[in-house]
Amino acid sequence: MEGSRLINGEKIDLGVCYYPEHWDRSLWPEDLDRMLAAGLRTVRVAEFAWSQLEPREGEYTYEFFDSFLDLAQAKGMQVIFCTPTATPPAWLTEKYPEVLNRDMEGHPICHGSRRHYNYNSPVYRKLCRNIVERSAARYGRHPAVVGWQLDNEFNCENDTFYSESDTEAFRLFLRERYGTLENLNRAWGTVFWNQTYTDWGEVYVPRKTNTNSPNPHQQLDYYRFISHSVCTFAKEQADIIRRYCKPGDFITTNGMFGNIDYQRMKAESLDLLMYDSYPNFAYCLDGYDPGDPMKDRNWSRNLAEVRAVSPVFGIMEQQSGANGWNTRMEAPTPRPGQITLWTMQSIAHGADYISYFRWRTCTFGTEIYWHGILDYSGRENRRLREVTQVSDKVAKLREVAGSRYEAKVGILRDYDNIWDCRVDRWHERVESVSQNGLFVALQQAHVPFDYVYLENPLTPEELGRYEVLFYPHASILTTERAKMLNDYVAAGGTLVMGCRTGYKDQNGKCVTDYLPGLAAQMTGTDIPEYSFVPPDQGQSMVDWDGVQVEAPVFNDLLSPVGDGAEVLGVYTSGYYAGTPALIRNTFGKGRAYYFGGAFPPATASVFLRKLGIAEPWGNVVTLPAGCELAVREKNGKRYLFVLNYLPETAEVTLRTELTDLLERSPVSGRIEVEKYGVRVFSLEKSRQP
Ligand code: GAL
Repeated sequence: MEGSRLINGEKIDLGVCYYPEHWDRSLWPEDLDRMLAAGLRTVRVAEFAWSQLEPREGEYTYEFFDSFLDLAQAKGMQVIFCTPTATPPAWLTEKYPEVLNRDMEGHPICHGSRRHYNYNSPVYRKLCRNIVERSAARYGRHPAVVGWQLDNEFNCENDTFYSESDTEAFRLFLRERYGTLENLNRAWGTVFWNQTYTDWGEVYVPRKTNTNSPNPHQQLDYYRFISHSVCTFAKEQADIIRRYCKPGDFITTNGMFGNIDYQRMKAESLDLLMYDSYPNFAYCLDGYDPGDPMKDRNWSRNLAEVRAVSPVFGIMEQQSGANGWNTRMEAPTPRPGQITLWTMQSIAHGADYISYFRWRTCTFGTEIYWHGILDYSGRENRRLREVTQVSDKVAKLREVAGSRYEAKVGILRDYDNIWDCRVDRWHERVESVSQNGLFVALQQAHVPFDYVYLENPLTPEELGRYEVLFYPHASILTTERAKMLNDYVAAGGTLVMGCRTGYKDQNGKCVTDYLPGLAAQMTGTDIPEYSFVPPDQGQSMVDWDGVQVEAPVFNDLLSPVGDGAEVLGVYTSGYYAGTPALIRNTFGKGRAYYFGGAFPPATASVFLRKLGIAEPWGNVVTLPAGCELAVREKNGKRYLFVLNYLPETAEVTLRTELTDLLERSPVSGRIEVEKYGVRVFSLEKSRQP
């Protein structure tokens, strides 16, 4: 980001979320001094502070944030200023109740918590434009301000909207998409169960229906519509801010939530995306899964998702204390070392700015147990000492800033299929197993990977950066995407697809082609029959050259087509024992694999081994499965992060001489990484084996 004072490739910075409106003003100077002493040089403010700026309709007051920003400037503290639209004030929702969101049964989501508005109310849009313009005009040129956050966590907590304004806007969205009702009826297959529409006024956002099963094609378009609503809401704000902000000041938003096409939002409105990382969710009292081998390491999956939108990103909220609302999410405090570990997890994946949530724990409201760095009293504590140590460490990682996460393996994604999974349990069942299975296997075999979104056309060269691509269950396959895949494989790439590929069109309607539809030719595969694995059959097993792999959930029964197609594996269980389960097809210079099942961790790890992509850095470092390896690269120099998530010491072997960046010394051979410990090594280009 050219000219930016944060995330500019020169250093990694730390900051913190602060709520000046939660504390007596007399505390501000001391709080800022203590932040700066701890190495926290940027604060994010104002995301829920509409009433501080417009206490009554049309009455704007700036004294509060003028004082705070002037103080910040005097102290040398940088500020990320937010638009306050996540929490419309009581005067607003009372006077204009139509701005409230509604649940599917039509009940209003009332004032008293947050995110109670809908994106499509014209009056809310207008009031938001007003407040955003007032704030941007007042603070856009303030010297302390370095960037802007839009709203707070679009779609957090609730990603569905059923107000009257949503129905009105949905009709417009559909008219634009389909032109005529006839086209809409065809796209949604409304002839089924006599749903045919004869007037646009008969079309609604999904409503409560018998058996809670609305038309699936309508539902899919509805998720697209929600994304469209959020994206246009964000863009309206971003366009206003850009008219007022200083060159180099960035516009961002925080978090990743459902029903949002972040690729589009980034392209239209954001300089970069920021994420809110709370790995301690893994240890909440409800939902803790002792059998999950990943636990807090699962947040690396989310960070990879953020990177797919924004290769350069920041963390707007990094966990620094226990989670907990008074109503849910009870969790223990981070153990010594974990604040450092989770901060480094973010940096390892490409974050160059980390802002902790929050400075002091709030003494009132729903989040009294969502702890910040400091507890209620603000007394010095262990967590503040750890954060201060992190800032010393981050200073030593200066040269890492601006480097890019490096991966040779990709997992393909697209919103059609992501949203189809929400509509279609058959799809979701295989997808959830495989998304988890691939992540776990890649992590345990220390294979850095990227998520790659097929939203915009990608050239064979862009996709060709990846030696292997997995596209586990692309139920919806479009001609554009099929062409990208064909080109990638024909140019020499390796693509792995799993069961249930290519049986739907973009509306989520099933195609009448022989399956796997648009992937048939490239994979050299025909699917004459398919079934869920019968629940009384036990595991569905496949023999792959003597190796037994599980093909759970759903099985496509395969048959090879053409000279390039080779059967590599057959089912060994059930009535279809002996039927092909894995086909490899030579296509142009590359190879496409079609596997008849889903990919749980053990199956995915067999694929990594057989494809020769496990442990890609094995001649530099060997480490136990419980440690993550992440690699960032800049000008040919590599930065290797070893992250130990386990409550025990890990033994790691360095097979070549590396520089320990935190110790600033050369190191090789066997080393120990303490529990929750992190090491960061640099590997010179000339020393790369
Ligand atoms: C985030 C949110 C913060 C705070 C935090 C803890 O989702 O952006 O405002 O609520 O979670 O609940």
